[in-house]
Amino acid sequence: MSSDTLLSVTGLKVHFPIKRGVVFDKTIGHVYAVDGVDLEIRRGETYGLVGESGCGKSTLGRAILRLEEITDGSVVFDGEDLAPLRGEALRRRRQDLQMVFQDPLSSLDPRQSVQSLLVEGMKAHGLTADKEATRARLRELMAAVGLPEAALSKYPHEFSGGQRQRIGIARALSVNPSLIVADEPVSALDVSVQAQVINLLESLQESLGLTFLVIAHDLAVVRHISDRVGVMYLGGLVEEADADSLYATPLHPYTRALMSAVPIPDPVVEDTREQILLTGDLPSPAAPPSGCRFHTRCPWKQAERCDTERPELRVVEIDGVPASHRVACHYAEQIASGKLQPHQVEPELVVPLEAEVPVDLGP
Ligand SMILES: Nc1ncnc2c1ncn2[C@@H]1O[C@H](COP(=O)(O)OP(=O)(O)OP(=O)(O)O)[C@@H](O)[C@H]1O
Ligand code: SF4
Ligand SMILES: [Mg+2]
Repeated sequence: MSSDTLLSVTGLKVHFPIKRGVVFDKTIGHVYAVDGVDLEIRRGETYGLVGESGCGKSTLGRAILRLEEITDGSVVFDGEDLAPLRGEALRRRRQDLQMVFQDPLSSLDPRQSVQSLLVEGMKAHGLTADKEATRARLRELMAAVGLPEAALSKYPHEFSGGQRQRIGIARALSVNPSLIVADEPVSALDVSVQAQVINLLESLQESLGLTFLVIAHDLAVVRHISDRVGVMYLGGLVEEADADSLYATPLHPYTRALMSAVPIPDPVVEDTREQILLTGDLPSPAAPPSGCRFHTRCPWKQAERCDTERPELRVVEIDGVPASHRVACHYAEQIASGKLQPHQVEPELVVPLEAEVPVDLGP
């Protein structure tokens, strides 16, 4: 791990047990929400994490903050493995890792004024000893997120959605974190306000030297603020690259499908670009497909390897594609060169979990 790495996630798994039965409380299976993720975030960069609903993005973000129990793997933050931390040691470490949530209204206590919401977090980390300094800090936080000082005495319901998200961001900033995980920070906001909040995050990152993990289900949202982007599918990363390289040369069939769903404002480009429709729903993370998890929906699926061998995230030898661009597909080179052509995908029946796990009625 190099010294400019702030966060290093290795082999991370978060499996949720599925329980049945009132008396015996048996575990009949697991939801493999995050299932083997390796990921590094450098100091001062913005890493965008995208993927469709239910692929495990929030669980990954929450596991990094240790808000979710880690099943396996490590989360090393600034040289320290967070996985074994408990109690007071974990609480103190949390000052460095803060989260901004999707829905600011449900994450802000409606009975507390903005000032008391901000002071609460600062107090928990011993940052309010000096009254004058605290007041100055509150003013500074309001200015940083573009709200007037008078906002401090108001309550969350008195603000618009965009303003509330600014308060959520101020609260995350209040304890001086080094990493902020922003989970769908703009998806609950009007499109017209989304860009303002994204711009705010970008300018804060530049002025405060913050490191961001920004989660979104839509590639367009993270495009402009991300230095690097990771694409997640059913609990694993399928592609990771510098933002420019990913948008210029998406290599994984899933990324190409996501990309073809993003509207492009230029009608000429819009008419000529590739359209890949994803067939079928996201399979259940409780019964993920064998081999490559995308094989049930992949228009390039091959008879060999795709449904038997899970592809690793690997560097590819394709002209113009840098080594920092990695993809988890056995056939990335042949797909990129056009040697393999897409075909029609027949939707596959997803076997429900109950049918796979024999029900034991107990003694
Ligand atoms: N506490 C939990 N117990 C059981 N299953 C869970 C729990 N939390 C999440 N899951 C399941 O784990 C999978 C991944 O969920 P997660 O919320 O991480 O997805 P996501 O990518 O953030 O989706 P979205 O875009 O809808 O927010 C889903 O199938 C979800 O139902
Ligand atoms: S490994 Fe096979 S199924 Fe998976 S993305 Fe590549 S071609 Fe498609
Ligand atoms: Mg989520």
